[in-house]
Amino acid sequence: MPSRLAVLASGRGSNLQAIIDHFDNIARERVAKVALVASNRADSPALIRAATASIDIAHFDGADDGTQLLALLQKFRIDLVVLAGYLKKIPSTVIREYAGRIMNIHPALLPAFGGEGMYGARVHEAVIAAGAKESGVTVHLVDDDYDRGSILAQWRVPVEKSDTAESLAARVLNVEHIVYPRTVEMVAMLQQLESKTSS
Ligand code: GAR
Repeated sequence: MPSRLAVLASGRGSNLQAIIDHFDNIARERVAKVALVASNRADSPALIRAATASIDIAHFDGADDGTQLLALLQKFRIDLVVLAGYLKKIPSTVIREYAGRIMNIHPALLPAFGGEGMYGARVHEAVIAAGAKESGVTVHLVDDDYDRGSILAQWRVPVEKSDTAESLAARVLNVEHIVYPRTVEMVAMLQQLESKTSS
């Protein structure tokens, strides 16, 4: 049985699209399927992308204590939670219930340029302001601390002298679209292996 993914997204949803496209494939659809796309923003373009791909969508209150999100994840029998541009903290009730099964992508080489308030353009502005010669992509497990969970994958991206936050963001985003779906696939495969060996 494919792992059932919930993708949580607040914004544009380009990583969500890369994940949808990756698993829309006869071999990979056995590994995982996007069963739910949920957002704290009812007007998130990510929800439109999901609806276009005939994936169930839901809106929940990002300020809730986790009761709403957990009920959604349980209702859709979710195995793996994938944060793709979801910027709110995941409540600890959900983290406890889904320990080791929530992952996030960050547009820099963690632990550098991470933490609360570091998202989107702010990350790339900070990388350029620090004069860093390289940045990159990090996929990590989510725990109670912002951007501190175990690192699953990283890929380096050069920072050019002429870069603006926009040009660096675009270079990093291209790499995110390659790294994230493949890391999700790897985790889903390992999860299936684990459930086979433990049953
Ligand atoms: C991505 O660059 C992602 O790495 C970043 O938000 C963007 C979402 O784009 N996430 C963070 O900064 C988390 N700290 P998308 O909506 O097009 O996937």
